[in-house]
Amino acid sequence: MSFDVIIKNGTVVTATDTYPADVAVVDGKIHSIAKTLPQENAKRVFDATGKYVLPGGIDVHTHLDMPFGGTTSADDFETGTRAAAFGGTTTIIDFAIQYKGQTLRTAFDAWMQKAESRAVGDYGFHCIITDLPDARIEEMPALIRDGVTSFKLFMAYPGVFMLDDASIFRALRATTRNGAIVCMHAENGGAIDVIVKQALAEGKTAPKYHALTRPTTAEAEATGRAIALAEMAGAPVYIVHLSCNDALEKVREARDRGLPVYAETCPQYLYLSLEQMDAPGFEGAKYVFTPPLREKWHQEKLWNGLKHDHLQCVSTDHCPFCFKEQKEMGKNDFTKIPNGGPGIEHRMSLVYSGGVGKGRFSVNRFVELVSTTPAKIFGIYPRKGTISVGSDADLVIFDPNREHTISAKTHHMRVDYSMFEGVKVKGMPDMVMSRGRVLVHDEKFLGKAGGGNFLKRATYAGV
Ligand code: URP
Ligand code: ZN
Ligand code: ZN
Repeated sequence: MSFDVIIKNGTVVTATDTYPADVAVVDGKIHSIAKTLPQENAKRVFDATGKYVLPGGIDVHTHLDMPFGGTTSADDFETGTRAAAFGGTTTIIDFAIQYKGQTLRTAFDAWMQKAESRAVGDYGFHCIITDLPDARIEEMPALIRDGVTSFKLFMAYPGVFMLDDASIFRALRATTRNGAIVCMHAENGGAIDVIVKQALAEGKTAPKYHALTRPTTAEAEATGRAIALAEMAGAPVYIVHLSCNDALEKVREARDRGLPVYAETCPQYLYLSLEQMDAPGFEGAKYVFTPPLREKWHQEKLWNGLKHDHLQCVSTDHCPFCFKEQKEMGKNDFTKIPNGGPGIEHRMSLVYSGGVGKGRFSVNRFVELVSTTPAKIFGIYPRKGTISVGSDADLVIFDPNREHTISAKTHHMRVDYSMFEGVKVKGMPDMVMSRGRVLVHDEKFLGKAGGGNFLKRATYAGV
């Protein structure tokens, strides 16, 4: 038997198991896993002695090449997926936006055009719905059949993305009928808008007022309402970018009652806090994203939520805007700062370091949070999210002892600052492959633009 690739002498880690094994790849799939595999006829051999062999990371919340706040996110599908690969993430699910009056198909086609010739790793789309006449509901089954099996709805950003409760409820009922799942941006946009207007009227225009005008109660209220609407509709719901303990409590309570409620958090909420907003001058703008940063004590609650499965995934909400020229659009008014932060590259190392490295959870739980559960919730498991015979050969040789200090000087994202500048991580990918194609090895990029495939995802089937 001849193999395209063999990874030898590594420790294979899945969500459930950790064991020494060789892994062989043929035609982009995992062909065999055994204690020892013959390497004589392998075209390429990687030695993973002392390293983990992990399933490729899956980031189910990214915004590449996204028009937002009067500008466009700084990474396109090439630079964004390339940076993701440097960090061990081989699959992303991005968001195709249906603008008011447009069909869902228009959104899908537009985002396919952005991604098709550029993405270096595999990608799928959630569809953001911003208005919902009956015609859009009727359109959902066709989009779902084409593999767009999740929809993002907003309870915030009135006049831009926000939907009213009746529309949200109708969408949730439609997803139940069609086997899709709703991803919810849960913040009470109406209340926040009133608080924001008052702050501006009082002359409070600095970046930190972005955070101070979006209280945790606004997130918790919307999270509770999203769960209630989903329960009434008999639908599952996935809460995106959960940032605080108040919202986490709503999710925990719902899951304790056995409801199909899921939530993700992001590295920025695990590592950064409100103090960042006090950075000198306009520097706080680097941390303007929604939901905003919270008081520091929330971080440990979120880590604990990850440990105990009150939170199921860590994604990045990667939505980069350069400090110069883009963030600076809001120099005199925080509401004009484009919302979003860069993070696609360092998710795996940050979660590994803070989670496994600090003894908060096991390496298996780490794999579950960054790869396996995202794959299950969003219909790409077991093709992705695990290491098993027949799965895509999306594999990462991960060195648990390699140390790195995160910096904009060395990162690969197309943005002029890092939210995690100076943060020291221990645990870095040495080799990253997608469907058997090596994307990154020894810090060199070996992939190609357009090498990624669109993922036609299956419908929601529980976790
Ligand atoms: O500030 C953020 N999170 N920007 C991206 C859009 C969103 O709400 O996810
Ligand atoms: Zn959002
Ligand atoms: Zn987002």
